[in-house]
Amino acid sequence: MVKVIEAEILSSSSDCRGIARQDGKVWFVDFALPTEVVRFRVIKNKNSHGFGVVEEVLKRSPSRTEPHCEYFGICGGCALQHIEASYQNVIKQQVLLDQLERDSGIVPQQVLPPLGGSPWGYRRKARLGVRLVPKKGGVLVGFREKNKNYVTNLDRCLTLDQRISHLLPSLKRLITQLSRPDRIPQVEVAAGDNQIALVFRHLEALSGNDCTLLEEFARSHDACVYLQSGGVGTVKPLYPEEPPMLEYRFSKNGIRVQFSPTDFIQVNSSTNELMVQRAVELLELKPADNVLDLFCGVGNLTLTLASEASSVLGVEGDPGLVQRARSNVRLNKIGNAKVEHFDLYSDSIETWDPGPFNKVLIDPPRSGALNVCKWLVGSLKPERVIYISCNPATLARDLNLLVNEHGYILKRIGLIDMFPQTPHIESIAELELS
Ligand SMILES: C[S@@+](CC[C@H](N)C(=O)[O-])C[C@H]1O[C@@H](n2cnc3c(N)ncnc32)[C@H](O)[C@@H]1O
Repeated sequence: MVKVIEAEILSSSSDCRGIARQDGKVWFVDFALPTEVVRFRVIKNKNSHGFGVVEEVLKRSPSRTEPHCEYFGICGGCALQHIEASYQNVIKQQVLLDQLERDSGIVPQQVLPPLGGSPWGYRRKARLGVRLVPKKGGVLVGFREKNKNYVTNLDRCLTLDQRISHLLPSLKRLITQLSRPDRIPQVEVAAGDNQIALVFRHLEALSGNDCTLLEEFARSHDACVYLQSGGVGTVKPLYPEEPPMLEYRFSKNGIRVQFSPTDFIQVNSSTNELMVQRAVELLELKPADNVLDLFCGVGNLTLTLASEASSVLGVEGDPGLVQRARSNVRLNKIGNAKVEHFDLYSDSIETWDPGPFNKVLIDPPRSGALNVCKWLVGSLKPERVIYISCNPATLARDLNLLVNEHGYILKRIGLIDMFPQTPHIESIAELELS
């Protein structure tokens, strides 16, 4: 029997669900906001906690808003469209600060205002699922459905770069016409300022006619089309034969960053530029500074840091990204930046000696950088560390080491609204050696 519970929402969980306490347990409630009173349907009931989804809002938060998108609630691409964009940041900031205090007892000296651009049309990279489901009308293209392995049948997406969103209906028609639409599991999309690109993963060899259809699609939509028959190393251009590199350009300093469609790049163009500026401010760069930019990717931060410092060394573990970062250094005619290939998670970091650096920027994946922080405090002991994080839990763990065990002070921290409408929390923290 379906169980429905009425409860007040007391706070937000780390993934921005509402938290209620009822029947002696904690409930995580989808689409519920702090201060609201809701009736929620139980979807999972465990001994200590349970999960629910809002059926009816009895007392409404002033920050609740109408979702803009018809797929909201089904599509797993967004989870927070029912919350006003500015209040999404209030919740995320609280989650970030709570996690820091709870896990490591750290309270920053100052909390910076959140950084962010437009909450819509920002996603310039995405991996879209493809499924042939005749009973749902044929080929579906979209993000996975929320909590399910189905593909949402999207005709548009309000968070995707609109050049890509507009392609969705014709993309579905194109895949329907291919000889084996059931053997196309995904299309990766990427948008540079100059060009859009689509990478079609195919599990069977494509026919000559398939390739003709894909080429016609590329020409008529002014897109570059790539094919991927296996792992990421198998990605090859189909049309044009020699596609231009994708590129974004920073409006403030004119720096150009080139990338290929499967490279890691920060997904949100306008927020990324604000993040790079904030990193420069927080590093308090002076012409004599030597900066280590760890996990540098395509050189997104390296290039701008170099224009303000004496030297910068970018360090990256993916050989393809190292090549890209080096060619971006050359493209921008930067003489004081180098890029080194190094696996920062390997044990050999213990004896690694990249040279003297007085300031360090760390921008690791979600798993964080505990071993890198251990190495930092054991060797360089830089006067200033800027830590860009996409996971508050690993940030709290790593700052615990730097602050509680090695004398760094968390001077400032701020939210970076890189993924509006989603619960992802990105932040930037400034640490100074006391
Ligand atoms: C969050 S991204 C940041 C990239 C870059 N700073 C930017 O702003 O675009 C993390 C980067 O860490 C790199 N990475 C992952 N594991 C690594 C490792 N073991 N050693 C070095 N770099 C690694 C990834 O390839 C990726 O480029």
